[in-house]
Parts: sequence; C-alpha cells; structure tokens
Amino acid sequence: MAQLLITGGAGFIGSHTCLILLEAGYDLVVLDNFSNSSSESLRRVAELSKIGHEDRLKVFEGDIRSREDLDRVFFSARDGIHAVVHFAGLKAVGESLLFPLAYWDVNVGGSRTLLAAMRRHGCRTIVFSSSATLYGDPREVPITEKSKVQPINPYGRTKAAIEKMLSGYAKAEAGWRIAFLRYFNPVGAHQSGQIGESPSGIPNNLFPFVSQVAIGLRDHLQVFGGDWPTKDGTAIRDYIHVMDLAEGHRAALELLQHEEPQVLTFNLGSGQGYSVIEVIKAFEQESGRSVPYVIGARRKGDVACSVADPSYAAKCLGWRTKRSLNEMCRDSWLWQQSSPQGYLE
Ligand code: UD1
Repeated sequence: MAQLLITGGAGFIGSHTCLILLEAGYDLVVLDNFSNSSSESLRRVAELSKIGHEDRLKVFEGDIRSREDLDRVFFSARDGIHAVVHFAGLKAVGESLLFPLAYWDVNVGGSRTLLAAMRRHGCRTIVFSSSATLYGDPREVPITEKSKVQPINPYGRTKAAIEKMLSGYAKAEAGWRIAFLRYFNPVGAHQSGQIGESPSGIPNNLFPFVSQVAIGLRDHLQVFGGDWPTKDGTAIRDYIHVMDLAEGHRAALELLQHEEPQVLTFNLGSGQGYSVIEVIKAFEQESGRSVPYVIGARRKGDVACSVADPSYAAKCLGWRTKRSLNEMCRDSWLWQQSSPQGYLE
C-alpha cells in the first residue's frame, strides 16, 4: 500500500488523520518535532488502529526546516513516499501577532524546505493543512472557495503565502497534485476518548476552555463579546468534528491520486453556524455539568460570523460532515474525562 509522509502527525488534527489513514490501509511515516504535541498521541493511534506491526506507522522526531531530517524520512521509505499530508506548523493567532517571524520561519520556511525535499525525492502530491482564517473578516457568509483571501493576522498570512508558493510552483513544474484544505473550527475527539486536543497552558480556543470549565479545572468561561450582530449577540462559527475533518483528508488524497495533476482548494466545514451560547448549552447537555460563563469584551481580531459553504467539497470529494454539534461536545467531554491533563499524565 502507498506510503505517506505526515508532517506534524502527532498534533490534534494530525493524530486523528493518521488513524483514519491507517484504517484506510495506508502506511505512514510521521515527522514531528513535538514542540506542541506528544508522541503519546501516536502510541494511542497505533493501539486504536490495531496495526499488526510497527512498520505501518514509523515516527521520526525532526523538523520540517531541516533538509537532513527530511532526507532521513524520505530515505526511510522502502518504495518511496507517494504523497505528503502537511500539518506541521505554528497555529496560534495571538502568538503570531507577538512573534510573526517565527510564523514565517516555521510555516513558510518549513513548507519551502519540504517542497524542495519532495522535488529531490520525486514526490509531487501534497495535501496542505490550510485554514479558514485566511478569509479574514468575510464579506459574505457562507464562505465559498472563491471568497476573497484577506488574512488579518500573521498566522493567516503565512497560510495564504504557503498556498501561493505551492500553487505557483505547480505552474512552474508539471505533474503536481495539490489540495488546500481550509479548515473551519476543528473540535471534538475520537469517539474512544483516547486521543484529542491537548493544548499546553491556558487554552485559547473555545472547546478546550469549555471542557476545562465543565470538569472544574477553571471557574468560568469568558465569552468574548455579547454585542455581535448575531441572533444572541455572541459570535458564530462553523464547528467541525475532527473525525469528519480527518475523513476529508482521506477523500482529498484519493481524489488527487486518481485524477489528473491539478491544484484544488476546499472549504472543510459543516455549513452550519453555532453561537458561543449554543455551544455552551450543547456542552452542558452532553456533559451533564454546568458551564458558568460571563460575557466579556470582544477579543481583538475576532469576527462576528464564519461559516463554510461546503458544497464544492461535497461535489468533488463526495465528502460531507456527518457528526453533529452534540457529538462534538460528547466526544470532547469523553476525552476531557479520560485525559484531564491531555497527554501529560
Ligand atoms: C481560532 C483562530 C483561527 C484558527 C482556529 C482553529 C483566532 C482569532 N482564530 O478561530 O485562526 O484557525 O482557532 O480552531 O484565534 N471564545 C470565547 N471565549 C473563549 C474562547 C473563544 O468566547 O475563551 C469564542 C471566540 O470569540 C469565537 C468562538 O468562541 O467566537 C470560537 O473561538 P476559537 O475556538 O478560539 O476559534 P476561532 O477564534 O474561531
């Protein structure tokens, strides 16, 4: 079976995608520097996927900015790497405002080094982990792939720059198969509760924060703004279950491999928007715990509403989300209960 390189495979979306790809029969080589992840996630992925021998999931500690690390990984594949799924990168908006050069270095520089390694080793298929953050404050909702790319923070700018670098390269050299997957808000966890999101320190994102309030690690949630122009005044997002998202990667890989070389862009979201208050209520229902909150000021850089138009992905990939907001809450809660400190224990 085809062997894939998964950069950043130990992270939240990476680990769930590794599981789906192992179950689909792919052999995987993961390259991760574990700067914001733990190898424990991959140990659990191996366990959950019941892979017979460890040859099917090889793990290398290394950096996408290192030519040597990349060569080591490509040479490790007996029959070559057929395709790359590229997750590795820095991903916190607030941090990107404080340390923009780190974002250009790791995200853009790392992707450039990866692209060069792919050329050296004759691999021309890549699925790139992009983000809906590159739409900035969208002019129209739902957001289609044709909506304007206008990122409003360094993190989003690096995602847009990587897309440009890769699609520009595909014009310069024939034979590239590239998919940009623009994720909306990935949340939830594998239904076993064994793998999930393991943020270090105080979580920035809504779901990990709500989970920690529900379990009693934090007193209350601060809702960022109650005066947005939405039905209940709190901001609306398109939350997508991480297992649906992982399945989107498998669908994109399959399409790329079976079609002519091309560059494709997909919005991966559910097409359904929920407010912060609706998320809190659904989480309370699924956990049976109360989630105290206070309405505070808006967070700088937030937008009122971000919802995907997922119809292009449905048409081309034959993929759509299957899991509801309540399932996202249920699985996040299961993960929170089974691993209250993430992978740290
Ligand atoms: C954030 C990133 C986005 C990234 C995405 C990945 C920012 C500004 N954007 O999106 O680039 O692709 O995560 O999942 O960080 N909220 C609260 N209280 C909290 C935390 C969040 O009210 O303690 C609200 C936010 O204002 C927002 C919603 O919950 O309306 C979702 O927030 P979050 O999970 O951080 O995701 P985004 O900001 O949409």
